[in-house]
Amino acid sequence: MEIARKTWSGHDHLQYALDEWTSNPQSHLFVIESEGRTIAFAGVKLIESGKTGWMEGLRVHPDHRRKGLGWLMTEHLVQASREMGVKRLRLTTATINEAPMRIAERLGMEQLFQLNTFWKEALRRIKWSDTSIQVEESTTGQVMEVLSSEPSLLPRGIIVHHWYAFDATERGIQKIGEFAKYWIGRRNGQPVSLSLGFKHDTAVGTEWCCTIYAANAEAFLSALSVHLDMAKSLSMSALMCVHQPEFENLYAKVKWLNERDHEIRLVLFEKCL
Ligand SMILES: CC(C)(COP(=O)(O)OP(=O)(O)OC[C@H]1O[C@@H](n2cnc3c(N)ncnc32)[C@H](O)[C@@H]1OP(=O)(O)O)[C@@H](O)C(=O)NCCC(=O)NCCS
Repeated sequence: MEIARKTWSGHDHLQYALDEWTSNPQSHLFVIESEGRTIAFAGVKLIESGKTGWMEGLRVHPDHRRKGLGWLMTEHLVQASREMGVKRLRLTTATINEAPMRIAERLGMEQLFQLNTFWKEALRRIKWSDTSIQVEESTTGQVMEVLSSEPSLLPRGIIVHHWYAFDATERGIQKIGEFAKYWIGRRNGQPVSLSLGFKHDTAVGTEWCCTIYAANAEAFLSALSVHLDMAKSLSMSALMCVHQPEFENLYAKVKWLNERDHEIRLVLFEKCL
């Protein structure tokens, strides 16, 4: 698709996601055409039994930007979602991406929270580990137990995986567990971290994509160490790590974290319909 080739220097994940979106009956895709060519694209995926409309893939061809098409597509998605009985719309974007930030704001969406995301490549060169807290792979049942005893581990009871978010209900935790593994970190038997990780195909290889929720710095670093080991043992091209912003002060203290390849601040928006 030409739009994807011309967006983010060809690193647009649209070209990889499109097969899944077109074959998923819960994905509703919309385009604007001009002279037989697609000049704008956007989708809404019904998740959580149709309660949530997940807005994704908004793109306008570079030759047609800043003429109101992005806003037009968004208004159309909102209307279509209402007609499909969607109760709330959600989307994630990077805070540096001004146009979708502006569109979400104009739509009256609420910012639920922000999370940091960083990427690190050349993982085999990293000789670092942190085992100060015991971190073990866990079942979805154990994750549910942790969430009922320590609900504050997750901001707003929402669990993020890659650019997506689900309410951390039993169904949501199980759904993520279909493609991801979970880990729980404990200190003296008390849960202090919850994390998940899975393989994700990108334009430049397969990366290990993890999300870490931790009660403190020690718990964060121990969980990160487990995910780094996973990424290395699976020969992943990169590690993508999503985490609470308060741990960014650790970047300066750990050499390899201080040499991140790329980073963004992710924001989750919501609008109740
Ligand atoms: C995001 C995107 C779809 C916006 O499409 P667009 O047709 O240019 O957007 P519009 O003309 O409808 O503008 C919508 C709002 O964003 C603002 N905006 C658009 N481009 C902007 C830019 N580069 N910088 C700052 N603000 C911008 C507009 O001023 C407008 O704000 P207003 O309502 O206050 O006037 C388009 O820029 C794009 O395809 N970007 C690359 C992919 C992307 O980032 N997708 C979103 C992923 S979450």
